[in-house]
Amino acid sequence: MKLLFVCLGNICRSPMAEAIFKQKLHERHLTAEVDSAGLENYHEGDQADSRMRAHAVRRGYTITHISRPITRDDFHQFDLIFGMDAQNMRALKSRAPQGTEHKLRLITNYCEKFRLADSVPDPYYGGDSGFETVIDLLEDACEGIIAHELT
Ligand code: 4NP
Repeated sequence: MKLLFVCLGNICRSPMAEAIFKQKLHERHLTAEVDSAGLENYHEGDQADSRMRAHAVRRGYTITHISRPITRDDFHQFDLIFGMDAQNMRALKSRAPQGTEHKLRLITNYCEKFRLADSVPDPYYGGDSGFETVIDLLEDACEGIIAHELT
């Protein structure tokens, strides 16, 4: 199984999702190919946002991903592609090559604790609580993905 997490800049939400998902796989002795990518290339080659990395460490995760933009090939190579919000989903749908649209998923549809969540809000222009919310929502969604797609 190959899973790709996608957000706008690939420096906050999707690299956080990748790190959480990889850790959960490791804890459960499961294997899958996991990566993340951005819809925009503004931050290509950059480490994840220092605030996101700091919150990650406090919660027991390490983000090592370097930002990269999504490619046409990604839509073919990955089995499931997760967007963080409605804007991400619109961009993914408009860029998905024909026959790959069925791989696209809104990540919050996998939340079980935060059932009413309909997006992982962009934390970039906000404060600390936004980064904590990202981790809360992504932990919940990653559990749901493992339960419904991997086991
Ligand atoms: P992300 O957050 O999509 O979660 O990585 C953002 C990072 C940077 C920008 C927007 C969102 N930006 O506009 O630079």
